[in-house]
Amino acid sequence: MTAPIPRDIPLPLPAPEGFLEILLIASFLLHIIFVHLMVGGSLFSLACQIKGLKAPDYEKLAYRIMQTVTVNKSLAVVMGVAPLLIINTLYAPQFYASSALIGDMWMAIIPMVTLAFLLAYLHKFWWHHFINLPELHIGIAALETGLFLFIPLIFMTNVNLMLFPEYWPEVKGFLSAMLLPNVLQRYLHFLSASVLFTALFFVGWTGRKRFQEEAGFNELKIITVRRFFYAYAFGAAIFQILTGLMALASLPTQGMGWNFILILTFGGALALPALWWMWRNLTQPSHLLDDDFKRIIACFACAAIFMGIARHEYRENALADHKTAISEKTANYQAAVKEAGEQARQTAKKPEGIVSAPGESAFNKNCAACHHATLPTVGPALQEIKTLYADNPSGIVVWTKAPGKKRADSMTMPGFPQLSDEELTAISQYILKH
Ligand code: HEC
Repeated sequence: MTAPIPRDIPLPLPAPEGFLEILLIASFLLHIIFVHLMVGGSLFSLACQIKGLKAPDYEKLAYRIMQTVTVNKSLAVVMGVAPLLIINTLYAPQFYASSALIGDMWMAIIPMVTLAFLLAYLHKFWWHHFINLPELHIGIAALETGLFLFIPLIFMTNVNLMLFPEYWPEVKGFLSAMLLPNVLQRYLHFLSASVLFTALFFVGWTGRKRFQEEAGFNELKIITVRRFFYAYAFGAAIFQILTGLMALASLPTQGMGWNFILILTFGGALALPALWWMWRNLTQPSHLLDDDFKRIIACFACAAIFMGIARHEYRENALADHKTAISEKTANYQAAVKEAGEQARQTAKKPEGIVSAPGESAFNKNCAACHHATLPTVGPALQEIKTLYADNPSGIVVWTKAPGKKRADSMTMPGFPQLSDEELTAISQYILKH
């Protein structure tokens, strides 16, 4: 693998790994439902408000919808804390690397979320103040919706980038990470899910007995509104299947596996009966069937759970090699640290009268922290240095006084101008004889 391999933080997990994985899937699903309702609600409110310029009842509907958006956005944020913390715990090296690579945009989430929330409150709480300024009101709604649409794209770019360490060296900031082959397909898939889930949510929400009086429509019939949402749900479900196939086709193969494909197919197949029930309700002339609605919800809820599990399987498959490489590197490093500690203790314990090799204690004091005898740790192993400088002890002296930058994948070595030429010569002789 040519991917960069960071070292892990050698701390034990706070709970068994399998338990954290289940918690991650469950808490992510809970979070993403409210994200969908927030994004979709904002979109529907905007669309109905525009429609309301000609048909005033839709403006009333837009207002009702907006009242759900602010609640759902709060729930989305609160529910997002758990999965974010668990992903940080389980995939610390990968998630940290990808977050740092798109750092500016990742940090920009905070002001963007703040602005989106303020706009959403302005949009909702001042609804009636804008009665004579519909264009301005719609402008605010559009800005808020635009932010709600963009923020998930940043998250998606990040969790996608963390899956593919081999892209890390070539990625230059957010835009190039966003343009990796499969992000936009995944995003379209997410977007259609937002419309689908929100439309279904509103089919249910507008079906409540109290909705009739809450809405206060002049002419609009509740059944028309519910069909309006059903039609969007139906269209979005078709789009969802198509974008799902596109996303699947564009996924790099390293995460593919039978487990993933099987779970995905199973989840995807659940959409088919749901589509049929939706179609039946759309074409049914007189009334909507409550039982069908329950079945549709059950199908999509199960499909979402399957998709959540498949998503996790893909991540595990994609990162399997990288995780192994990281734990090997971490184990090597820990072994080297332990050995260096033992060496240092032995040197300290040396009985008086036995003179240690000249340069040895100076080496242990100044260099051993980064240079191990046989393993590359922070700096190259002594073995490597010995081959490089076999006939050239003064070369080590020159380098150590003012080190250059040679190895692209390691840090720069600090210089040691405080050591005298004698000390450095002794150290270099010790290294070469070691
Ligand atoms: C803080 C960590 C650190 C310490 C302490 C350190 N080194 Fe290094 N050393 C490095 C790193 C990192 C490199 C690789 C730098 C590179 O390739 O750009 C390196 C590379 C070297 C090399 C290889 C140069 C080459 O031509 O490839 C030599 C020789 C060396 N160190 C000697 C020393 C000596 C002698 C000391 C003690 C006086 C010392 N180092 C202390 C980190 C350290």
